[in-house]
Amino acid sequence: MACEACEQDTQVVHSFTGIQSLAEQTALITGASAGIGASLSLFLAGKGFHVFLVARRAERLQKLKSEIIKNGGLCTIISADLTKESERERVYNETVGAAGHINVLVNNAGFGWYGYYQDMPWQLAKEMVAINMVAVMQLTTLFLPGMIQRGSGHIINIGSIAGGLPNQGIAVYAGSKAFLDAFTTALYRETHGSGVTVSVMRLGPVKTEFFDRARKLENGFSVPAERYAISTGSVNRAFWRLLSHPRRVMYVPGWLWISQFVEVLFGPVIDLVGPLLLKREKQKTEK
Ligand SMILES: NC(=O)c1ccc[n+]([C@@H]2O[C@H](COP(=O)([O-])OP(=O)(O)OC[C@H]3O[C@@H](n4cnc5c(N)ncnc54)[C@H](OP(=O)(O)O)[C@@H]3O)[C@@H](O)[C@H]2O)c1
Repeated sequence: MACEACEQDTQVVHSFTGIQSLAEQTALITGASAGIGASLSLFLAGKGFHVFLVARRAERLQKLKSEIIKNGGLCTIISADLTKESERERVYNETVGAAGHINVLVNNAGFGWYGYYQDMPWQLAKEMVAINMVAVMQLTTLFLPGMIQRGSGHIINIGSIAGGLPNQGIAVYAGSKAFLDAFTTALYRETHGSGVTVSVMRLGPVKTEFFDRARKLENGFSVPAERYAISTGSVNRAFWRLLSHPRRVMYVPGWLWISQFVEVLFGPVIDLVGPLLLKREKQKTEK
């Protein structure tokens, strides 16, 4: 049986993006080869979007494309390393060349690392800044003017509650997500009344390859929050609510809105307890 509320949301999304036909809906998803991005790509293709998938691992993207096409969807893949300026420009040129425009830009590609900043290889820190922050900025620079010109569009940045919880072990990661919070808020206000929305999704832990990747990086420990991870399906459902009812911030799961008060209320306690938790993780890794 068709869900009436879902149907209504779909109509709202179409009217919001200013598109008449389903086939004209386009979404560019970065970091589409795994985790949240891969799941969201399948989900949006199922909703009728022509999805443009970007990541480095071409074979993974190809597999996803086959699945989407088998299900009757539309998909274009672009293998690119988004830490590089010229690659981001190529992604823009190829997407606009193929689709003419993008209605929804999802800045999702990123990675984390957990450990003492003094042990974080400089190369890794630079890579994290390039993908978690600079790529988001440059893709916004490239795609936002067209959206403003057309008077419609939605840029959704995949942030984290870590942006408001600058805890021990995630100095650069928390900084990069705090940047996304500030960048999004400013752009949300700048674009007010233009027909374009810029939003940030502040996610709690989600079951993906994120934790495995972080663990395997040089000098990194296991991220303790992994045990509380939710499914990517929950992120997809929240994403759809955000598209149909655009707003500046969305917490996933919803109850995590409370996280914005944790640092303010408990900062001095975390100052004392936090270092012990990180030390414990280091000891576990060394065993
Ligand atoms: N999982 C969580 O608990 C969690 C919580 C809060 C926020 N987030 C955020 O959610 C986003 C997605 O993470 P995830 O959990 O889905 O992790 P994931 O499963 O490890 O996926 C990360 C994606 O980013 C892509 N990527 C990484 N570096 C790239 C580069 N240089 N160029 C292009 N693509 C690149 C990867 O593709 P390739 O390796 O193929 O390039 C992959 O598709 C990240 O921004 C993360 O910070 C995750």
